[in-house]
Amino acid sequence: ENDLKEKAPLFGKKILVSAGPTYEKLDPVRFIGNFSSGKMGIEIAKEAMEMGADVTLVCGPSSISTTNYNINRIDVVSAMEMKDAMESQFENADIVIMSAAVADYRPATMAEQKIKKNDENLTIELVKNPDILKGLGEKKTHQILVGFALETNNELEFAKGKLEKKNLDFIVLNSMRDEQAGFQKNTNKITLIPRNGNPVAYEAKNKTEVAKDILNFILENYKI
Ligand code: CTP
Ligand code: CA
Repeated sequence: ENDLKEKAPLFGKKILVSAGPTYEKLDPVRFIGNFSSGKMGIEIAKEAMEMGADVTLVCGPSSISTTNYNINRIDVVSAMEMKDAMESQFENADIVIMSAAVADYRPATMAEQKIKKNDENLTIELVKNPDILKGLGEKKTHQILVGFALETNNELEFAKGKLEKKNLDFIVLNSMRDEQAGFQKNTNKITLIPRNGNPVAYEAKNKTEVAKDILNFILENYKI
């Protein structure tokens, strides 16, 4: 039994991870999106699987394949689709890690036909997307709920604010100030901020190692 605990510390645990950007459609051929590659969340999903977990990955548009892994992948496009997928999987999960870069806004309307170029200026009205993670925080019962925060300034303060507002157990702060952190990079520099306790800052590492740090932090600090 000790052997299993060592080799597969997440054996029997259900982990739900979101990854990637969301694309918000403007017309049949265009969208508003962001540069998230999906790599961070996908590495978390892979490492959780290596640690023996039963993994569901809700993934926005990403070119990274997971077909060689034993991961239940649900592909989505928009924030609204991601919300539905996360909500449908939430109750069953023991650990939920929201690493997706969800678009904060979507176009107020989607044009049925391709938008034609006419005037010199074009204004697009956007409406706010629902906060998926905040919604999960309100529904939380037994789940360990983890969010990400991308900040450029007042990092600790803003990240702590999100931790509270979204009812998280801890938040992964990603510093955009660091050259080794962020979108389209293979490395990341994180600080883990728990609800109760002091922030833990990590060195810049590749995203596989960062994924391990996040999962080990859960194993060491939370009852699952
Ligand atoms: N998030 C979410 N749904 C949204 C926006 C964000 O679930 N509509 C999640 C992200 O996946 C992340 C966390 O909330 O885990 C924080 O995202 P972030 O963009 O850093 O913060 P926001 O709350 O969107 O605030 P802002 O962008 O204004 O800093
Ligand atoms: Ca945001």
